[in-house]
Amino acid sequence: MRMKKTKSVFELRLQEHFGVSPLELPVLSEEFEAHDQVNLQVALDAWLSAPGRSSELIGIRGTDSWCKLTITELLRAYPPQPELGPVQYANIELEEGRIITCICKGLLLLRDGNRALAALISVADSLVGSGKVWVQVMARSREDAGQFLGEIRTSMRERNVYRGRIISLEAGFHSLRVRLHQLPPVSREGIILPEGLLERIERHTIGFARQAERLRAAGRHLKRGLLLHGRPGTGKTLTAMYLANAMRGRTVLLVTGLGQGLVEYTCRMARALAPATIIIEDVDLIGQDRALECTNPLLYELLNQMDGLAEDADILFILTTNRPHVLEPALASRPGRIDLAIELPLPDAECRRRLFELYSRGLPLERSDWEPLIPKTEGASAAFIRELLRTAALFAADRGEPLRVGRAELEEALRELTIRGGLMTRRVLGFHIEEAATESSATG
Ligand SMILES: Nc1ncnc2c1ncn2[C@@H]1O[C@H](COP(=O)(O)OP(=O)(O)O)[C@@H](O)[C@H]1O
Ligand SMILES: [Mg+2]
Repeated sequence: MRMKKTKSVFELRLQEHFGVSPLELPVLSEEFEAHDQVNLQVALDAWLSAPGRSSELIGIRGTDSWCKLTITELLRAYPPQPELGPVQYANIELEEGRIITCICKGLLLLRDGNRALAALISVADSLVGSGKVWVQVMARSREDAGQFLGEIRTSMRERNVYRGRIISLEAGFHSLRVRLHQLPPVSREGIILPEGLLERIERHTIGFARQAERLRAAGRHLKRGLLLHGRPGTGKTLTAMYLANAMRGRTVLLVTGLGQGLVEYTCRMARALAPATIIIEDVDLIGQDRALECTNPLLYELLNQMDGLAEDADILFILTTNRPHVLEPALASRPGRIDLAIELPLPDAECRRRLFELYSRGLPLERSDWEPLIPKTEGASAAFIRELLRTAALFAADRGEPLRVGRAELEEALRELTIRGGLMTRRVLGFHIEEAATESSATG
């Protein structure tokens, strides 16, 4: 039996829109990453808001939700034919109070003066399909369709909602996802380091960023890398967060657990969103193969990608590690990717005093209460001292009101953390007394 051929409702609508049969018109397609869906929507909204433009949005029913949809499919003359249905949207929340409603499946009939265009948007289900955004543009000529897509692409770049924000990239089922972050505020005074060290770090990062235009004009390269290394709990993460906050206006890409392919994509995204800072925490752990500790393919890929970026791209890399020796072979074979390596040392007596002052703020503690602990905490990290004061306050709180923290509570907390807590607690919090005696301290 021969199936009866009938014009689909979409063929009729497109014919009416273009004034000619859509079967004769060219279609241009483009695929966008899932996280660009919101940028696509922003660009479409901006296109439509220009004078002389109008649109009609039609929903589609009766197609598989996990695949990308084509205009050809909408023009099917045989059953099962897609039918008119509800437009499908998704709300994408960028930050609190800013939600962008994006079209997930729909046909836009666009008019710009007497130019007619149609754009079919479909997002493949991210669980079953690719999660990518598929756009097909139909126009009276290929040039028309190409020009429209070009305008949209430029507008997406210019209005990119991720520019200047703090984002991380994550590998989803089939696609990359972008998450927006808020960083805890870290004040300069909250970072206790030996005299002059933070200034050196700032000169290489904030100072560079401030002078970017002058340096570029003078033909200096802007791409640069900073490696912060040191024992656990010495403030590498804290410093990186401080720098990210202090350079607002730059896009910050936070990278943890780099997967294959993510390195390249992160760099590509940083270039598109420059000026940008890429923060890679615990870089020794990326793509680590325990059996082959010294041959870390992802680390080499990262260094190659850093190399591939244009010299004048204003991209700053901040890497942190507890184990700089793991990076040494890779860095030695790729010199120049990191221009500054700084060790954040365990606090000396003077820094420990400043740490006691900082972290006893708000507690009824006198200097004479904690001064005797300065020699006893030789080898302790900054994080350890913070935890010591917190534990002392907890002990005091257990004893009831009013909160009385004194020498006794501090001594008790020190015993708790170093002796009763055992080696594990000491390691985690960074108390390196006996380790310092057996291991040479890491240097880079
Ligand atoms: N140099 C420092 N000055 C002040 N506080 C510090 C310092 N280093 C660590 N801390 C405290 O310890 C916490 C953990 O430190 P973190 O920066 O995560 O250590 P790392 O990344 O070097 O292992 C910080 O959030 C902060 O409260
Ligand atoms: Mg850290």
